[in-house]
Amino acid sequence: MPPHPEFITQIDAMHTRAEAWRRASKRIGLVPTMGALHRGHFSLIEACQRASDLTVVSIFVNPMQFGPREDYTIYPRDLDSDLSQLARLGVEAVFHPQAESMYPSDFATIVEVEGLSDTLCGPFRPGHFRGVTTVVTKLFNAVKPHLAVFGQKDYQQAQIIRRMIRDLSLDIDVLVAPTIRQNDGLALSSRNANLTPEEIQQSPLLYKALEQGAAMIAGGEKDAAKVSAYIRGIIEREVTDRIDYVSIVDPDDLSLIEQIQGPVVIALAVHVSRTRLIDNIKVDLRSNPGSI
Ligand code: PAJ
Repeated sequence: MPPHPEFITQIDAMHTRAEAWRRASKRIGLVPTMGALHRGHFSLIEACQRASDLTVVSIFVNPMQFGPREDYTIYPRDLDSDLSQLARLGVEAVFHPQAESMYPSDFATIVEVEGLSDTLCGPFRPGHFRGVTTVVTKLFNAVKPHLAVFGQKDYQQAQIIRRMIRDLSLDIDVLVAPTIRQNDGLALSSRNANLTPEEIQQSPLLYKALEQGAAMIAGGEKDAAKVSAYIRGIIEREVTDRIDYVSIVDPDDLSLIEQIQGPVVIALAVHVSRTRLIDNIKVDLRSNPGSI
């Protein structure tokens, strides 16, 4: 068994550790998470381990990225199981700060990426992405990584963080790792723990609908509105009528596409009773149709 990861809860202690690693010329990798870890997170951790000398996993359910009526209180938490999985994977450290030390009562500074944060999930989750970019900046400052790894599952989040790193001239490489799915196609998500058995049965149709949309594009359909209407129809009939959006966007700047000419991302967000699910598929006809 690899040694247990160092468990760091104080921001000061994290600074000291990271400085020592940097002095020893270690390439530090960071995988930011909100815990309730699953195979999607593990694949990010393994990608990080391959590309760095040591891996820090942060576990912090960030209150700033949840709206007042969102699922902060019922967000799944299982620190003991997370820590034993991280020991099995052999990560060097777990950074688990407390909300009070991350956000003192007079906290007043935000980091916001305009534009990219205002599309797709943005209008449905006001303040969400500024919560993400603010906490990720704080995690970067505490852990001082050379490399940070994010999942394609949260496509918009990954694009926003790339832009933030560029705009703020941060010296951090970003790796975006593919979405890990169940065999039936459902994207793994900590929030799946809040689905009922019946909802677990229905939800794989979200990805099947995305694949059918990708197949329409591969078959020559250029009208994005037709493709998204087709996907919406499947979801409305079989899964839920509470659709936040089904959108076809440019993979880089996330602008809405009307006529499909090059690579696109089809992204969706829906509510299955009290659980909000997101997923996406990248369609690039220059490589394999439907590939990500
Ligand atoms: P969380 O939802 O815990 O996700 C942590 C990372 O795991 C994100 O980069 C996310 O894209 C990735 N991930 C989640 N499900 C995945 C899957 N099925 N396959 C591959 N990667 C997957 O995203 C967050 O936390 C937070 O917003 C955070 C970045 C930690 C800031 O608080």
